[in-house]
Amino acid sequence: MNNFIFSYPTKVYFGKGCVKEYLASLLRGYGPTVMLAYGGGSLKKSGVYDQMISILAEAGKTVVEFGGIMPNPTYAKVQEGAKLVKEHHVDFILAVGGGSVIDCSKIVSAQAMTDSDIWELENVKREYPTKFIPMGAVVTASGTGSEMNGGAVITNEAQKVKTGRDYPAANARFALMDPTYTYSVPKFQLASGGFDILSHIMETYFSPCDAENVSDDISEALMRGVIRDLRASLANPEDYDARSNLMWESTMAENRIIKLGKKGDFQCHQMEHQLGAYTDCNHGAGLAVLHPAYYRHIYKDGLAKFKRFAVRVWGIDPTGKSDEEVAAAGVEALADFIKEIGLPTTLRELGVDESIDLGIIAASCNVAPGSYGKMCHAEIAAIFSECR
Ligand code: NZQ
Ligand code: ZN
Repeated sequence: MNNFIFSYPTKVYFGKGCVKEYLASLLRGYGPTVMLAYGGGSLKKSGVYDQMISILAEAGKTVVEFGGIMPNPTYAKVQEGAKLVKEHHVDFILAVGGGSVIDCSKIVSAQAMTDSDIWELENVKREYPTKFIPMGAVVTASGTGSEMNGGAVITNEAQKVKTGRDYPAANARFALMDPTYTYSVPKFQLASGGFDILSHIMETYFSPCDAENVSDDISEALMRGVIRDLRASLANPEDYDARSNLMWESTMAENRIIKLGKKGDFQCHQMEHQLGAYTDCNHGAGLAVLHPAYYRHIYKDGLAKFKRFAVRVWGIDPTGKSDEEVAAAGVEALADFIKEIGLPTTLRELGVDESIDLGIIAASCNVAPGSYGKMCHAEIAAIFSECR
């Protein structure tokens, strides 16, 4: 294993009724003005918005609303939020939503505490912000695990760059996770978020170290769980056990625990982020298109691990097959699963048509150092073309 240091700043409250039970008392520990950050219409439709307003009133807070955070939140939206925080002297940000709302809130919390431009600071000067307005998260969709990490991914539309950082100091102070809040997530987003969870685990698992290690063992259990719980949630959206497992699997995939001792790959995420920067595609669906093609390129370079994935995650019987055949069967089982859960398998199905120049997108991608394959921009371009 690689060396590591581990501690955890986010306190998690999990289960049916946890928001009603704990949120008001948690908020009492912070100042009087709370920014309520949320996305488009789902919160008002599901009734969660009304619950939040009444809990905030019960806690005696002045509410500053910051709604309309879009999927793939933009730099401009961050500036809008930071301006509101400064104008109203917000003491605490309550992010209620999926990854986009929680991510956007983290960057707003950093931008509001500095006079420097946060994009310049991070992406040009390569400095990390150190001061953040405290925030808490109420999760409404499983997928990114943003509620229990410091990661925040933002799109700079003008520069066509979608990028993220993990700032440990930006972790939410608390995360409230009531699985029933995810019942209303539409099936496409359920599948997309579920695939994002699987992707986070695979991107970690398929990377050194490759000696027997705790992280890989946990990752295999998590991957089997995501496959089982996503199938069950799609079949019955109100299956509480499946929804709770999926919600915790989502958090476990990205709360840094399975990354301990691992290098991590995240090449597919790098490619999806740039595809998103140019096309605003759905994050999990973009990953679903790219993963099988990427793994067809690299599985021979990580043969032992891909074979193990095939056998332990997909139950492929290795009898009478070469290692290469077993490993390839695992990648095809993944591709079949993507079809089964109704996600796109080509860029065309994702809504990326022939007019989009994939060469430009490929050239804008970072090459991840943890990949089993030695990737270069030409190979990334080939992978994009194979996904047409
Ligand atoms: O905006 P509303 O109306 O709320 O609808 C949202 C949105 O349209 C809807 N939704 C959320 N909860 C719902 C619901 N609809 C009905 N009922 C509910 N309970 O779901 C749609 C997608 O929401 P979004 O937050 O965009 O999805 P997700 O959680 O997948 O977040 C995606 C963003 O997170 C970034 C992605 O790149 C993307 O920008 N990521 C963040 C990471 C992190 N912080 O660690 C890591 C990830 O790899 C990822 O890059
Ligand atoms: Zn992701």
